[in-house]
Formats: sequence, C-alpha cells, structure tokens
Amino acid sequence: MHILVVGGTRFVGRHLVAGALGRGHRVTLLHRGRTGAGLFPEAGHLLGDRDAGPAELAALVAGRSWDATVDVCAYRPGQVSALATALDGRGGAHLFVSTVSVYAPPPGPGLTESSALLPPAGPEVSDVTDETYGPLKVACEQAAAAAYGDALLVIRPTYVVGPHDHTWRFPSWVRRLAAGGEVLCPGPDTLPMQVIDARDQAAFMLSLLERGVAGRFHTVSPRPPFSFADLLSAVADVVAPAGTTLTWVDGDFLGDADLSADALPLWERAPKDADVLAADPSAAYAAGLSPRPLADTVADTWDWVRVSAAQAPAGVGLTRTQEAELLATWRARG
Ligand SMILES: NC(=O)c1ccc[n+]([C@@H]2O[C@H](COP(=O)([O-])OP(=O)(O)OC[C@H]3O[C@@H](n4cnc5c(N)ncnc54)[C@H](OP(=O)(O)O)[C@@H]3O)[C@@H](O)[C@H]2O)c1
Repeated sequence: MHILVVGGTRFVGRHLVAGALGRGHRVTLLHRGRTGAGLFPEAGHLLGDRDAGPAELAALVAGRSWDATVDVCAYRPGQVSALATALDGRGGAHLFVSTVSVYAPPPGPGLTESSALLPPAGPEVSDVTDETYGPLKVACEQAAAAAYGDALLVIRPTYVVGPHDHTWRFPSWVRRLAAGGEVLCPGPDTLPMQVIDARDQAAFMLSLLERGVAGRFHTVSPRPPFSFADLLSAVADVVAPAGTTLTWVDGDFLGDADLSADALPLWERAPKDADVLAADPSAAYAAGLSPRPLADTVADTWDWVRVSAAQAPAGVGLTRTQEAELLATWRARG
C-alpha cells in the first residue's frame, strides 16, 4: 500500500511509519519538518503546515493519491475537515487517531466503543487543554465521520508507552524504579490502569488497513482488572534493584501538596474519570490487537532511557528532594 501519514515523526506516528516501512509499504509523511527532522529518508516527505490554510494544504497533496491516510496529529475538527477537503477523495481508507479521553465519565468499568461520548467541543473552542482535549477529539471524530462515513477507522488509545515516548510519563517511572530505594507511589493503588505499546498499536493499525477493516477500536492493554499498583509492580519486577520499596501515599495528601501537574505522571487525580482506564479491549483483540508482555515494553523503554540522549521535559516526575520531603512529611503525620 501507499500510505499517507499526517504527522509521523514524534512517537505514535513514528512507530506507525517504522512499522509500515518494515512491512514493505510505501509511506509519505506530511509534516512541518520540525520534529524528528531527518527521520525516514527512505519515505516521501511533504513539508508543510496542515494549518496553513486550505489553498496551501490542497497544494501540498495536489496530484497525488494514496491507498490509505492515517491522521495522527489532528486535535481540532477544522483540521480533519480541511484535510478531507484537500484530499478530495484521493486519500484512500482513512484512519483517525483519537483517544479514550472521548468518553463521558462512565458509570463503571467495562466501557465499550459504543459507550457514551462527551459532548463535542463547540466551534469557539480551539485551545487544547486537559479539559478540552476529550471534547475536541469527539468533535474531530464527528468531522471524520461526516467526511468518510462508514469507511472510517478510528483508534482510541489509552496511555501510549514504549521507546521514544516524548511525554516521559511512563519512562519517568521506569527510570525512578530503576534507581531503587524508597519510591513514593501516589495512591490509591487500586485505580485502574491501561497502557498500549506504540509498536503493538502501530502493527494493529497497519493490519486493519491491510485488511480494509473499518470501525472504532480501543487500543488498550491489559484486559481489566489491572491497577496502577500492578503497573508499577510490573515495572519494578524488571528494573528495580534488590531492596527497592514502593510506599503508597494517600492521594488527598498529595493533592494538597504544591506539585506541578506532571510531578506524578500517570497518577489519576480525579478517580471519577479513572474508569476510562478500564476499557474493554475485546473488539480490538478480536480484530487482531496483540499486545506484547508488559515486561518487554518496560525493558525496551529502560534501554531507550539509558542509551538515548533524550531528556525528560522539565517537571515530569518528582525530584529526589521533593520525593524525600513528601515521604518524610507523610510519615510524620503518622
Ligand atoms: N501519547 C499518548 O499517550 C497518547 C494517548 C492517546 C492518544 N494519543 C494520540 O496520539 C497522537 C499523537 O501522537 P504523536 O504526537 O506521538 O504523533 P506523531 O505523528 O509521531 O508526531 C506528531 C507529528 O505531527 C506533526 N505535526 C504537528 N503539527 C503539525 C502541523 N501543524 N502540520 C503538519 N504536521 C504537524 C509533527 O511534525 P512537525 O512538528 O515536524 O510538523 C509530527 O510529525 C494524537 O492524536 C494523540 O491524541 C496519544
């Protein structure tokens, strides 16, 4: 197949492009050339800003056609519609990368792809924030459905993990647990958790496109129940030196501490929303999603952390001083 990837040089899309090339597909990436510059010299590159305007976008894709298009980097419905207009039916099958954040706060675990969605963001919403991200993605999905109809393929990932994770949410826990000692873990330890290895997600997306499958699929692992404690224990099993201890600290205590939003990555501060991390993966597993063992993802992520020159963004994860002070204060409270 000849696949157009809108994006493709950071993390989710990067693994998709690598997977597609590895499976023998021709790939064209549309991106601005800022992120991951120099990646994938064997692929085609259309350099431009998808937000530059209808004429510019149409000129970028003019005279070309593809068997499939994967839109990895749309966050606003206008971007989805503008791409559809520019492609004018020449993009082939269409896969939109969405998120499990599209779901309305669910009544309990077990949500499926047909569970209720949040109300879509209105046209006045353009800033992508923690609050608008889900509603904007709902609006994007609606715009994609309007453009591509029943042929539309949507994937809704949970936290994507693995090498090249620019968010450092998961790598920061791998690195911390590998350092050993007493590790502050934010409670409650029972909250649900799911992740997906970006490479398994990429293989699933490509397999769906190769087989001409349409529909909506969670890309999540494992099947519930699985908790945040299970996740951190699985990481510790692979990387933590002997003598490492995990100390679970009350979430309300941590909520009252003066911490940045990313100081405790993956920690769900609002348990009412936590059930989106207990999504039912049955449809995706039946359609071929095959997540590797979490231990393999942990090991590969730790390899990437050690050998890559990548640095965690400022503020992701506690500093060791912050962690020690919080543990001391927590212990002093009895
Ligand atoms: N990471 C997670 O845990 C997670 C969870 C759920 C869903 N998702 C979804 O996964 C997707 C994000 O993945 P990613 O960022 O890792 O994807 P990616 O495709 O690997 O990287 C983003 C790409 O978009 C390009 N880009 C950004 N703005 C652009 C613009 N205005 N015009 C043209 N190209 C542009 C970037 O290149 P340039 O900067 O060079 O333009 C880069 O190639 C999103 O849809 C997100 O909602 C992620």
